[in-house]
Amino acid sequence: MDKHKKDKRYARLYAQLRELVLKPGSSTARMATIIAVLHHKMDSFFWTGYYVIEQGELTVFMYQGPVACQTLEKGKGVCWAAMNKKETVIVEDVHLFPGHIACDSRSLSEIVVPLKNASKEIIGVLDIDSKEKAAFDEVDAKWLEKILELIHITY
Ligand code: SME
Repeated sequence: MDKHKKDKRYARLYAQLRELVLKPGSSTARMATIIAVLHHKMDSFFWTGYYVIEQGELTVFMYQGPVACQTLEKGKGVCWAAMNKKETVIVEDVHLFPGHIACDSRSLSEIVVPLKNASKEIIGVLDIDSKEKAAFDEVDAKWLEKILELIHITY
């Protein structure tokens, strides 16, 4: 999908999600809704979900897509890279990322966005994988960061 088309698609999804999260008050419900909408509306998303810190380990939380690793080896892979850098990491070719953790060999590219609590502390990540190489760019980063803010938005 070209960047302009993708930008417009995200703008529509953002508006839709904003409406949806107005209803349930819980952040967990919002997180689940965000994953469902993204996974089913973005054609190239093959695995869409969260890993959250539990007892020091990045542990899989709600997700859509094939069964994933339950925990991720500390300090290794793309999710930990985003945790440590405290910023979004885009990997165009997972085979070229040292230490990449392959939960499913069909995933070829990936984006990982830090997930924050209401106090803006990083508590985990949003991780999205694609079966296409270089599926993610700065348009995804911009919108996914904005979408995650909906988890704590107050009206
Ligand atoms: N590839 C990730 C692990 C999680 S799966 O993509 C669902 C990583 O390297 O951290």
